[in-house]
Amino acid sequence: MAILLPGGAGYIGSHTAVELLNAGREIVIIDNFSNSKPEVLDKIKTITGKDFKFYEMDYRDKDALNKVFSENNIDAVINFAGYKAVGESVQKPIEYYENNIGGCLALLDVMRKYNCKKFIFSSSATVYGDPEVIPITEECKVGGTTNPYGTTKLFIEQILKDVFVSDNSMDICILRYFNPVGAHSSGLIGEEPQGIPNNLMPYVVRVAAGILPELSVFGNDYPTPDGTGVRDYIHVVDLAKGHVKALEKLDRENSGLYIYNLGTGTGYSVLDMVKAFESSTGKIVKYKIAPRRAGDIATCYANPKKAEEELGWKAEKTLEDMCRDSWNYIEKSQN
Ligand code: NAD
Ligand code: UFG
Repeated sequence: MAILLPGGAGYIGSHTAVELLNAGREIVIIDNFSNSKPEVLDKIKTITGKDFKFYEMDYRDKDALNKVFSENNIDAVINFAGYKAVGESVQKPIEYYENNIGGCLALLDVMRKYNCKKFIFSSSATVYGDPEVIPITEECKVGGTTNPYGTTKLFIEQILKDVFVSDNSMDICILRYFNPVGAHSSGLIGEEPQGIPNNLMPYVVRVAAGILPELSVFGNDYPTPDGTGVRDYIHVVDLAKGHVKALEKLDRENSGLYIYNLGTGTGYSVLDMVKAFESSTGKIVKYKIAPRRAGDIATCYANPKKAEEELGWKAEKTLEDMCRDSWNYIEKSQN
């Protein structure tokens, strides 16, 4: 019985592949390397000492998916594939809807043919829009997304709810990630944004490494303790372990549709992150205060209690681990 990981060569998928292999699971990865590199596959094997099957393909290609399902005994799918750049999605809405939603539909259709019922989906805190209540629980209202990327997550969640209504024997888990950062402690796998990063942590490490001149802190007039945006940063290894726990939950249940926030429950501001990075690595992060970024919200952090109670999962790594591992990865990849 194997777990299929579309997008398993990417940032979160590769870390989850490691945790699944470490937990003794058999995996099959499919990826088209549109936002990742083939070398990642060998690195997963080096870290775990375990082998797995890989198919280079587009996950929207139903013929190729049929081949994967016919050649392997796929018990569950954890879907990481898709495009994820918020700004780019505003410029390329058709590509985002086509890839993110089209790929999910193709997977669900082929799963139905092979009677595969377990599906875990990478959703995002972005589905909460500008949250009404902080910390955010799974019961909070969703909607009000401000870009096509976020809307693909919202639509896919709705598609999964509709699929479950049509077939109550499905076993579906929607995981709403908060802000994943950090890298595997080996420094072999980590986040590889193409071009100039949009997200805070990849930007901070590149300023510290002298690759980028300075960080722009987008706004210091938010209603937060120091005026800069507050987020729930979660170590990618903790996040990856959340998928192993979600899979165990689906193994325990015969059917159902479950939704969990995967966050730490603690919010840190942009300046908190800069200070934490400097003190954990001894590096200086030059920054300037810049205008607010369009579409940003002031504060976003999770109430992660439901995942703790129902999955037995809790983020364990510290802010220092997140900063140190991000730095270790960039230092190793620079060399
Ligand atoms: P990533 O870009 O590193 O990984 C996605 C992988 O999917 C890449 O390896 C890419 O090559 C592959 N892929 C894309 N389109 C494909 C296609 N048509 N066929 C086959 N492979 C394809 O992204 P990530 O950060 O690992 O994110 C994984 C998932 O988690 C995504 O769905 C993303 O939207 C979601 N998510 C990410 C974050 C974040 O901040 N990183 C936050 C919330 C949710
Ligand atoms: N920020 C800066 N300067 C930068 C980059 C970011 O000040 O150069 C600030 C932002 O204004 C925000 C915070 O740092 O206050 C975090 O920004 P990120 O871009 O790292 O993350 P977001 O919270 O905006 O969004 C991320 C992902 C989304 C996902 C969301 C919730 O990019 O895809 O987390 O999971 F939906």
